[in-house]
Amino acid sequence: MVLVGGEPGIGKSRLDGVLRERLAEEPHLVLRYQCSPYHLHSALYPFVEQFERAAGFAREDGAVTSWTR
Ligand SMILES: Nc1ncnc2c1ncn2[C@@H]1O[C@H](COP(=O)(O)OP(=O)(O)OP(=O)(O)O)[C@@H](O)[C@H]1O
Ligand SMILES: [Mg+2]
Repeated sequence: MVLVGGEPGIGKSRLDGVLRERLAEEPHLVLRYQCSPYHLHSALYPFVEQFERAAGFAREDGAVTSWTR
């Protein structure tokens, strides 16, 4: 595992892009999560959202519908 950190604009996204380009021919799995200042109070928001999407939950589904699908 590699953690890339640094000031805004230092080139983190570009590094990530080049790495993915170079891996294009290799069998691999990309898991991409995006945090957001709009969801600061929602624990593990990117992961929960991915699971909900994968399970086919609709935005208007309540908790009961979600659990019984
Ligand atoms: N090695 C490089 N050579 C030329 N240009 C570069 C290089 N690395 C980054 N850049 C350019 O610098 C700019 C900022 O890079 P990038 O978007 O990757 O930064 P970042 O660290 O992801 O920023 P942020 O924290 O805001 O997301 C982009 O226009 C990118 O193309
Ligand atoms: Mg970036």
